[in-house]
Amino acid sequence: MSGATAFDPAAVRAQFPLLMRGLDGGPLHYLDNGATSQLPQAVLDAMIRFETTSRANVLRSVHRLAEAATDAYEGARLDIARYLNVPGDEIIFTSGTTSAINLVARSFGEGMQPGDEVVVSLLEHHGNFVPWQMLRDRRGITLKILPVTDEGRIDLSALTRTVTKRTKLIALAHVSNVTGAVTDVAPVVAAARTVGARVLLDGAQRTPHGPLDLPGLGIDFYAFSGHKMFGPTGIGCLWAKKELLASMPPLMGGGEMIRTVTVERTEWADVPHKFEAGTPPIAQAVGLGAAVRWLMQLDWTSASAHEMRLTQRVLDGLGRLKGARVIGPSGLQGRAPVISFELAGAHPHDVCQILDGFGVALRGGHHCAQPLMDHFGVAGTTRASLALYNNDADVDALLTGLDAAAAKLR
Ligand code: ALA
Repeated sequence: MSGATAFDPAAVRAQFPLLMRGLDGGPLHYLDNGATSQLPQAVLDAMIRFETTSRANVLRSVHRLAEAATDAYEGARLDIARYLNVPGDEIIFTSGTTSAINLVARSFGEGMQPGDEVVVSLLEHHGNFVPWQMLRDRRGITLKILPVTDEGRIDLSALTRTVTKRTKLIALAHVSNVTGAVTDVAPVVAAARTVGARVLLDGAQRTPHGPLDLPGLGIDFYAFSGHKMFGPTGIGCLWAKKELLASMPPLMGGGEMIRTVTVERTEWADVPHKFEAGTPPIAQAVGLGAAVRWLMQLDWTSASAHEMRLTQRVLDGLGRLKGARVIGPSGLQGRAPVISFELAGAHPHDVCQILDGFGVALRGGHHCAQPLMDHFGVAGTTRASLALYNNDADVDALLTGLDAAAAKLR
């Protein structure tokens, strides 16, 4: 990004207190960023500053503290919008990706008729799978599933035979939380446009890896979580164009999502507040705003190159490890730094436990993507998911630990 400071991996890592502190007196090689990333000091400071100088409810009272709280909350919305290159009033705060997708299913989805179709893929996280199964059971829609290729990508060649005039929505992962494959969005949008369908992307695994131009993608809905992109838990967002959001009914009724309430009827507030009933997670929104401001001052060309160089090192190491099989793209083309693998004869939980002894934090299991596990015929995988603060020592510890795990478990 222009105006960004040069990317210095060591200086970036030094801003994360938990990484600097380590674990139980030893180093912490945190490679479970796909589940939750760590917090930089700037985010911690922003949240403490808010709670100690501006804590009050938002959009209600007119005293100075309440106005400061509202400014902080709405300011965070504007910062998040800048990260995505969209207008601020198109950002709805939710509790995370799952609640953002459920909002679409419960609001946009309720307008669907029996026989209408929603298209997902076999590699979706349960958060972008189960809400559509539930909609199927509520509304009698048909749920169609795009297959995956051998290297763990959504098989977009199946779009033409899957998308029909009854398709109302195509809902796909932008980046797979299992295979790390990045979805090629253009053909999805093109297929949707031929039948007037909408496109939703689950961006949970994409947003930690640099700013986005959502209008440039041509999609309709984007969902993501704060806690995977160096922000707090309990906060996430749904983005959609204002006209689309305005046409959708609210999900929850209550305070602050209304313009007027009489005994007879209620008139909704404008977007985005129509979708934010009740007191929102204010400090969490402020924290996420600080996280995107922190992300936006980085040089993402260098940060991405750093992430990809470490990813290549992990892939090379797995390539040399007897019995290891990467479940996902074997190269860097169209992939994010999320690397799943199987170690022949070893259960992922056992692998993770041994690696924990080396100070390496991984995730092992089905990764909330059981249909994909069934497809690959595995109970689960071991997953290393990298962030911009990881370094060569993290990769060295991972590969050393995996050698030991392979020797022990084989
Ligand atoms: N969705 C998160 C993951 O993939 C929790 O680990």
